[in-house]
Amino acid sequence: MTEFKHVTVLLEEAIDGLNVQPDGVYVDATLGGGGHSKLLASRLDHGKLWSFDQDVTAIKYNENHLADELAANKVAFIQTNFRHLHDALVEQDVSGIDGIVYDLGVSSPQFDDGQRGFSYKYDAPLDMRMDQSQALNARTVVNEWSFHELLRIFSRYGEEKFAKQIARRIEREREIKPIETTFDLVNIIKEAIPAAARRKGGHPAKRTFQAIRIAVNDELGAVEESLAQALEMLNVHGRIAVITFHSLEDRLVKTMFKEKVTIPDLPSGLPVIPEEMQPDFKLVVRKPILPSDEELATNRRAHSAKLRIIERIK
Ligand SMILES: C[S@@+](CC[C@H](N)C(=O)[O-])C[C@H]1O[C@@H](n2cnc3c(N)ncnc32)[C@H](O)[C@@H]1O
Repeated sequence: MTEFKHVTVLLEEAIDGLNVQPDGVYVDATLGGGGHSKLLASRLDHGKLWSFDQDVTAIKYNENHLADELAANKVAFIQTNFRHLHDALVEQDVSGIDGIVYDLGVSSPQFDDGQRGFSYKYDAPLDMRMDQSQALNARTVVNEWSFHELLRIFSRYGEEKFAKQIARRIEREREIKPIETTFDLVNIIKEAIPAAARRKGGHPAKRTFQAIRIAVNDELGAVEESLAQALEMLNVHGRIAVITFHSLEDRLVKTMFKEKVTIPDLPSGLPVIPEEMQPDFKLVVRKPILPSDEELATNRRAHSAKLRIIERIK
């Protein structure tokens, strides 16, 4: 592959936010087009960066894009789901890390490769797997998951107002014949949504497609498992930077970070909080960092992006 058109979101902000130490051990959990990895690697001297991606096309692309960094042994790739962070790193004899960046969701090439079935704009078999070796795909979700399961994912992961109507319609159509392609599904969604609602609020299939993608890749489950491991593996002064693209992801990260910086069951009336009761972590920024106006003007993907950063302090 020669081209991989992905414009990195919050590039400097995320890598500056990690406060990279030249001899440190770092992880890029979401290699994608290699934007964050390249900048992070440029700040290393004797340090090392482990870059994860579950998508073989991202790894292949970066064998060229990061060829110099690979040759200098500054970067190594791990092709697996980042939910296996701990075990995959231990396998490489890495037990502690000084920083990790997550840039969640899918990359532009995953969306724009019509054949992968992520986009309602291209007609393709229903797939949506980031990891092409995974068994579960969008076709199975749409054709085999129960009405109640569909309703749950459309409401929860898509925050879709017409979740019930869409799930019902799918249930009816698939009894006649299996739903095979993205365009079959788009038509079913359009028919399920009342005409007046169809004309506003963006593409009518956007939320349902997002919901199916999150379900196929178990995106929230993977983030939750991986972040818990990252928090455990972080060395003192190590940082985690996470870029999210929708409210569910952001809420999950915010809640997990908040738990780490709050003191549970603090007895009331303590004049000074004893050292051993102080939390092990601090938020580097209280409010999430958002893309600059300049970035918003040039990168459409940046619009919903939010960056949160946490640091282990002891
Ligand atoms: C938004 S892109 C990352 C872009 C990258 N930061 C850049 O600068 O080009 C997200 C990438 O993370 C990968 N990814 C998403 N979830 C993953 C997971 N659970 N495990 C491993 N890789 C994942 C996707 O395959 C995709 O290539």
